Amino acid sequence: MNIEHLYRQVIMEHYKSPKNKGFVADNSYLTIHLNNPSCGDEMTVQLKVVDHVITDIKHQGTGCSICCSSASVMSETLKGKSMDDAMKIIHEFYELIKGYPYDKEILVGDAVVYQGVAQFPARVKCATLAWKATEQGINKIKEDELNG
Ligand code: FES
Repeated sequence: MNIEHLYRQVIMEHYKSPKNKGFVADNSYLTIHLNNPSCGDEMTVQLKVVDHVITDIKHQGTGCSICCSSASVMSETLKGKSMDDAMKIIHEFYELIKGYPYDKEILVGDAVVYQGVAQFPARVKCATLAWKATEQGINKIKEDELNG
């Protein structure tokens, strides 16, 4: 089995059996809703942060297999991380998606299966939508902290 085949398999597994999918009706979660302007697909991410640590992430979207699987991978990758570490990981994921060298000690796990996306610029927004929602949520939590 070649590596691309393996990557595709991991993506399809996350698409068919996503981790952390669904919503919770709980005000202690921050909800971020984004849409992909290229196709109109939507992604909603919920974050629970306790003492600067992301203790839970939920997601729900209407996107393609790349988008929905990537939301599952994002939730698995960032759950349990501090907000600062999560921001570093998100940054490295964007480098990978652009086809740039990325820090293999920071970005680990299933997220690396999206490195082929760099060859398909139209899919970059699909792969990053849930990650951008989480990035936006972390920025909002940090801003709110600064503003007291
Ligand atoms: Fe819409 Fe991928 S085609 S998110």
